[in-house]
Amino acid sequence: MKTIGVLTSGGDAPGMNAAVRSVVRTALSMGMKVMGIRRGYNGLINGDIAPMDVRDVSEVIHRGGTVLYTARCPEFKTEEGIEKAVENCKKFGIEGIVVIGGDGSYRGARDLSLKGIPCVGVPGTIDNDIASTEYTIGFDTAMNTVVEMVDRLRDTTQSHARCSVVEVMGRHAGHLALQTGIAVGAVAIMVPEIPCDVENVIKKIEHTRKNGKEHFIVVVAEGVEKSVGEIAKEIEAATGIVCRATVLGHVQRGGRPSVRDRVMASYMGNAAVELLRQGIGNRVICYDRGEILNRDIYEALQMKKPFNVDGYRVADTISL
Ligand code: ADP
Ligand code: F6P
Repeated sequence: MKTIGVLTSGGDAPGMNAAVRSVVRTALSMGMKVMGIRRGYNGLINGDIAPMDVRDVSEVIHRGGTVLYTARCPEFKTEEGIEKAVENCKKFGIEGIVVIGGDGSYRGARDLSLKGIPCVGVPGTIDNDIASTEYTIGFDTAMNTVVEMVDRLRDTTQSHARCSVVEVMGRHAGHLALQTGIAVGAVAIMVPEIPCDVENVIKKIEHTRKNGKEHFIVVVAEGVEKSVGEIAKEIEAATGIVCRATVLGHVQRGGRPSVRDRVMASYMGNAAVELLRQGIGNRVICYDRGEILNRDIYEALQMKKPFNVDGYRVADTISL
């Protein structure tokens, strides 16, 4: 391939810039041209595309967000949308694309590949919910942000002997909630993958209260049916402990990427371009037991990510 494109799509994640930088510099070092496609698949449909050179990705490795911007693009799910994208690929000479995003973005990449534009997916989402990889760019930074925020909450929760019920992101997945819940010593963790009534949480709080505990943190994934406000009210009504609900929200998606995210993004971006250079598309980059590998995009989209049930049990056991 002589010219490749790169785009970021779906929810942004810290480390996406490091991935873009790696893609651009790897491709340039191999003698290929790189076209930056802005605002996810929107840019491909609207022709919001421009060449990128080595200095266009200077001073971005340490920045959150994405210099290419990102978007959700419903039009790309239509036949006309894809056709426009293919036309623009031809117009700009784009022979293959690195798509940095989550599962949804991979589906778009699969559809584009079916139309003859080979794509390679790079996993980028703070949710770490892509089945084909153990790790997604942004997860580590988001975990650290959550822990920093909850540590602050802990101070005031402890001073007032209250219970803080904290919502962390994860519309469909509790991986972020589990890891951060363990890291902050939450008394209970609620995730969409494991049924858990508020009654169980109340029992746990009462049990630890008998053991002398005076303040409580409950971590709840966004995907859990009840809101943190409702959960807090129920706990307060049953226990008499004053509860406060906090939604951490989009603060979790921003900030300087951690070392892990910068390094993973750099390796993954490089691996994606290496595939395209060999003329290999329709793959996704994965992290698997310490190695950066790649898988067929169709196979990757069929996979289901198991929830770490053992980790959940450990969290429950040690939160006494
Ligand atoms: P993520 O990539 O983070 O999972 P989304 O699910 O919002 O985020 O998907 C990002 C974009 O990928 C969508 O806005 C759309 O342009 C494209 N996309 C998602 N699902 C599909 C699909 N089934 N077919 C084609 N494109 C899709
Ligand atoms: O997929 C990443 C994510 O941050 C989810 O955790 C969250 O549910 C969603 O995106 C929020 O999306 P939006 O940016 O549209 O509010």
